[in-house]
Amino acid sequence: MIASTTTLVDELARIVGPAHVLTDRDTVAGYVTDWTGHWHGATTAVVRPADTGQVSAVLACCHRAGVAVVPQGGNTGLVGGSVPMRGEVVLSTTRLAVIEEIDEVGRTLAAGAGVTIAQAQQAVREYGLDLGIDLASRDSATLGGIVSTNAGGVRMIKYGNTRSRLLGVEAVLSDGRVLSRWKALTKDNVGYDLPGLLAGAEGTLAVVTRVLMRLVVPAAHTQVVMAGVESVGAGLELIHRLERAGLTLEAAELMTRAGIGLVRKHRHLRPPLDADAPFDVLVEVSGPTQAQSLLLGVLAEAEGMVQGAVVETGPATKLWQYRESHTESVSAESSTPPVKLDIATPLREIEPFLEALTAGLAISFPGVTPICFGHIADGNIHVNLLDVTGDQRDAVTDFVLRLVTQHDGSISAEHGVGRAKARWITLGRSDVDLDLMASIRTALDPAGMLNPHILPGSSDSETNSPIELEREVAR
Ligand code: MLT
Ligand code: ZN
Repeated sequence: MIASTTTLVDELARIVGPAHVLTDRDTVAGYVTDWTGHWHGATTAVVRPADTGQVSAVLACCHRAGVAVVPQGGNTGLVGGSVPMRGEVVLSTTRLAVIEEIDEVGRTLAAGAGVTIAQAQQAVREYGLDLGIDLASRDSATLGGIVSTNAGGVRMIKYGNTRSRLLGVEAVLSDGRVLSRWKALTKDNVGYDLPGLLAGAEGTLAVVTRVLMRLVVPAAHTQVVMAGVESVGAGLELIHRLERAGLTLEAAELMTRAGIGLVRKHRHLRPPLDADAPFDVLVEVSGPTQAQSLLLGVLAEAEGMVQGAVVETGPATKLWQYRESHTESVSAESSTPPVKLDIATPLREIEPFLEALTAGLAISFPGVTPICFGHIADGNIHVNLLDVTGDQRDAVTDFVLRLVTQHDGSISAEHGVGRAKARWITLGRSDVDLDLMASIRTALDPAGMLNPHILPGSSDSETNSPIELEREVAR
């Protein structure tokens, strides 16, 4: 047992080098606050190991000390899942940043968990391949982070979520043992799918240190259309018609007039379309060489349904910026940190859900501005609520998440549960389900040392934070 914070910090410094144990209040500030600015915590030390061996030694050391650890990648999560709360050690994976191997024939990428999505994309694109996962936070979000949150993103409709792209992992358990499931095989049915289990575990079961990802061959030619539509139903119908015409769906996004207005204000952009429809859908399609003529044909026949459309050849950065600027615009234009509720409903329920949401908010929370956007073909809507006062946060979250449940939806589609939705987890899972999750957690991390404040089965109260250790020593 390590007797004090000072001893723990010294031990950690011996493992990773003093330059990689950060304790200064200003230096750790960026690690103890989340991207949205709502979740704040405290850490006694941020540790930045350079390889799996060091991660193992750090975890073993903290385990012996009875000190909890919060793993953290790019800290771009939107549910407060990677922020320490009461002085836990933050294990930052950002130095695990080596791109180890790109296998052009087997179409795989082996890389450290701290490699950013943009770095991974750039590396594999040199081989004519792609990661198959893309999201607006690509410059900071890390491979380990997207595995731990099972991120979706804008390409999910075509290539699936991160779990479905993951072939293998190297990960360290809370006591320092290293799990290596590392075979570049698409078929490998020997027992439980442990990499799949770690995907989406939000850092509660193990710390992912290396990943083996299955790559994709990107479409050679893509076309992007932004179309104004009167209703969500019309947007879905347009998407179905594009697919029925023989085009492949690469991405399908929903935005609203209010969201586009906010983005235009924040980014000083011109309106994307002449018409001012209540909804805009942005659809990226690929297909044979005549993809553009197929697309234009569908648009010509959809005249009454589509209120103006504009087409740009892929990568279509001009059109995509209206969608990709939503997150930063929402944060910048809200007078308080936005309430970000990532939810999913069956496709047929999106429209009634959004109608009930708008009406309910107007009655019960008139000062709150909703900006809804998201991955329409996945039924995944990001409900962003602006100008929510501190005392309204829980009530408005409760209102939205209960409404989602009434529409047969999920309270978390792609962002995870984290701290933001921990109180509402019973809306998403039954008692038996939660019990089983807790049992799995206990089996992998019996002392509850990893990310103790989130997901079921937390044995939070049994672990010491360094701050508590310090108090004990002082007594
Ligand atoms: C996105 O798709 O842009 C993010 O997941 C959503 C958000 O900021 O709510
Ligand atoms: Zn999203």
